[in-house]
Amino acid sequence: MNIDIITLFPEILQSPFSVSILKKAIKSKIVSISFHDLREYGIKKQKQVDDYPFGGGSGMVLMIEPIDKCISSLKKKRKYDDIIYLTPDGEKLNQKISNDFSIKKNIIILCGHYKGVDHRVRDHLVTREISIGDFVLSGGELAAAVFCDSIIRLIPGVLGDESSALNDSFQDKLLAPEIYTRPSNYKNWNVPNELLSGNKSLIEEWRENNSINRTKKLRPDLF
Ligand code: ADE
Repeated sequence: MNIDIITLFPEILQSPFSVSILKKAIKSKIVSISFHDLREYGIKKQKQVDDYPFGGGSGMVLMIEPIDKCISSLKKKRKYDDIIYLTPDGEKLNQKISNDFSIKKNIIILCGHYKGVDHRVRDHLVTREISIGDFVLSGGELAAAVFCDSIIRLIPGVLGDESSALNDSFQDKLLAPEIYTRPSNYKNWNVPNELLSGNKSLIEEWRENNSINRTKKLRPDLF
């Protein structure tokens, strides 16, 4: 998978991709991530990328021209499955959307900043709009990191044990079961006996029931 991220602040995005699972996915060439600094496509001598909103009001708006120039230059190199704009008023991200994106080949992610982008970007250049939740971040960069992490870990070969992504919470509309490790008794806080039994079918049955009960209690809306 190839992901091109357009941002005014590429430095925000450096660390999430330089450790752990995302680093490994990049190193093993399962995924390639490129950052494109929007400033380089800015207009006039001062490389302007934003301007005041028509009609007045607070905050600056990212202009269409630098974004169009950047997207057009990327499109010359490859065909994209989707051009995604991260915005709090987009479609709310969930596991199904992440699953769908994990099988795409080439995507562009556009990070907004300040008040947002000129709406013509959304009407004419972008093909999908995604929100990571009902709250407002200062820009799309942290949302891009969350979005990329959620899709990259689903690409076969990224997680050591391929089945571990299948057992994640939400994959089958249930929360994942509780997990424990050594010691089995800590300050008299004990691990459920079933998990210590060594009996595979008993463990599976316990996990299934635990998943169902946790979901009923914590996220009844998922049923
Ligand atoms: N940009 C700012 N807030 C955001 C959010 N909640 N989701 C996606 N992009 C955003």
